[in-house]
Amino acid sequence: MKILLTGVNGQVGSALKPLLMSLGTVQSPPREELDLADAPAVAAWVRRHRPHLIVNAAAYTAVDRAEQEQEAAFALNARLPEQLGRLQREWGGAMIHYSTDYVFDGTRDGAYTEGDETAPLGVYGRSKRAGEEGLMSSGAPSLIFRTSWVYGLHGRNFLRTMLRLGQERAKIQVVNDQWGAPTWAGSIAQGTMAVCAALCRSAQTGESLVEGVSGKEGIYHLTNGGATTWYDFTRRIFELRPECRALVLPIPSSDYPSPVRRPANSRLDNTKLKEVFGIQLSHWSVALEDCLAELPAVHEVFTKTDEV
Ligand SMILES: NC(=O)c1ccc[n+]([C@@H]2O[C@H](COP(=O)([O-])OP(=O)(O)OC[C@H]3O[C@@H](n4cnc5c(N)ncnc54)[C@H](OP(=O)(O)O)[C@@H]3O)[C@@H](O)[C@H]2O)c1
Repeated sequence: MKILLTGVNGQVGSALKPLLMSLGTVQSPPREELDLADAPAVAAWVRRHRPHLIVNAAAYTAVDRAEQEQEAAFALNARLPEQLGRLQREWGGAMIHYSTDYVFDGTRDGAYTEGDETAPLGVYGRSKRAGEEGLMSSGAPSLIFRTSWVYGLHGRNFLRTMLRLGQERAKIQVVNDQWGAPTWAGSIAQGTMAVCAALCRSAQTGESLVEGVSGKEGIYHLTNGGATTWYDFTRRIFELRPECRALVLPIPSSDYPSPVRRPANSRLDNTKLKEVFGIQLSHWSVALEDCLAELPAVHEVFTKTDEV
């Protein structure tokens, strides 16, 4: 089976690559080889290689900057998934794509299901929602995994920021009124693989995977289990890494100025994933331990030039 993986240097893409290699031949051109905002180049690449499956882990993820860079956010998050979907439809390939809790405004009581109405609060969320709609309307067999609060040992993310600040500062203030499931990029990769394995169970060919996706297409929520706040997440990180000695103080979102409002409730209900594929990711606290177990010592994650 031929697979195109986009965003290979990102959090999710880098976790996915080694796992996807057990399914077939993975091609993962970095930005220097294939600029995904260059639509003609993308079309030429897909028409030349005809991947059975595209796993689109690339995205424009700078939530605050997106308010000023709407065009860049929509190119990657809205137009690219639709274009990839149309290209796959053209020749008969399938697609896996990722989306976000930021398609919701966070006002619901309890966890959001896939059928709940979307109401993004900013440009990033609107661009990701447009990408979901564009891909679904493309006619390609596709699965869309909405996830939340992604972290890992690579890239810019909350965990790495806190590991650094926890050692540098005497005290830090962390928002305590947003609820969600921190989700390890490694868990997203494992969940994606488990879905692919379930789809491929009958035969090991690219065609069988495409057929499998056709029967199950749509949006699925895919997050680690449970829910917490950024404040409690930070406290748990520091418990597991006692070399992070900073005092953690809770603050409301209103004390943390930002160009775009975040949903107060980012909880995503994962029942559909369990019912359709029999898959359930581990609890967020277990995933955090698994992630940190891959980290020998906090200082080894950072180089002098590292900025998180
Ligand atoms: N991060 C979160 O908290 C979060 C939460 C919910 C959902 N999600 C979704 O989860 C998925 C994966 O996110 P992530 O956190 O892994 O993202 P990430 O770490 O920011 O990685 C994004 C990747 O996209 C690539 N990319 C961006 N523009 C490109 C372009 N023009 N050409 C080629 N490559 C380009 C980046 O390349 P470079 O390495 O060259 O920059 C990077 O490898 C996305 O769909 C995101 O919306 C993320």
